[in-house]
Amino acid sequence: MRITIAKSEAEFFQLGARRILDQMRQKPKAVIGLATGRTTTGIHSVVSNLYQQAPFDVSGIVVFAMDEVTNVSREFAGSCYDMILRQVVRPLGIPLDNFIMPPTRSDDFTAEARLFEQRIAERGGVDLQFLGIGENGHLGFNQPGTPFESTCWHSRMDSQLEVRLRRESQTPDDVFLGGLTLGIKNIMHSRKIVLAANGTKKASIVAAALNGPVTPDVPASVLQLHPDCEFILDPAAAEGLTPPN
Ligand code: GLP
Repeated sequence: MRITIAKSEAEFFQLGARRILDQMRQKPKAVIGLATGRTTTGIHSVVSNLYQQAPFDVSGIVVFAMDEVTNVSREFAGSCYDMILRQVVRPLGIPLDNFIMPPTRSDDFTAEARLFEQRIAERGGVDLQFLGIGENGHLGFNQPGTPFESTCWHSRMDSQLEVRLRRESQTPDDVFLGGLTLGIKNIMHSRKIVLAANGTKKASIVAAALNGPVTPDVPASVLQLHPDCEFILDPAAAEGLTPPN
């Protein structure tokens, strides 16, 4: 496990963006899993800016979001499809055929989950999985308690996010608002993982994930077992870490 602590939040966004762009430059057919949220929105904006300054061939790059909100319209501004499309795919000009996403609506999310995994596997598996972290330690929509053996599945989301997305998407209370997410096992099969966290509100969960026991109660703690994983933190998110001996 590598821990990189940026000197400022601005440097944090730069570092995160560089990990994504470096992966694209190193392997012209790289398969890159992205994550949505406020953290990665800042990082993707730097990805887009740096790319405009120094464009390169991205025609073979494959991207996907590791999770998707279900039972909303795909065009809803909070869907992962829409966010990654606007933040990364369009600004870089990645071909739409190389943007792999599950649908937001389906009669059979179990089948969609297997298809999503299959489409990623057909492109050669994940070279880089970029992750955010929830304040409760969730990865994607894998909430605390999710078994480490989980593969892609249709999960609930944390209640705070659910309340906000239900309001913004005007989804009625009787419609299940969930998330199709790669499971913990899928995430751990990525060749490389980078998790980015910023802000004081992430400090205690970052400390639990890095310094605490490996337990499904803190899904991100499983990353301690990954052979090539880096945490990129801003100074505020690193506040609770135990200093190395
Ligand atoms: C959502 C996403 C996660 C993301 C998390 C963090 O729950 N499904 O993939 O890691 O938000 O969001 P933020 O960066 O806004 O804190």
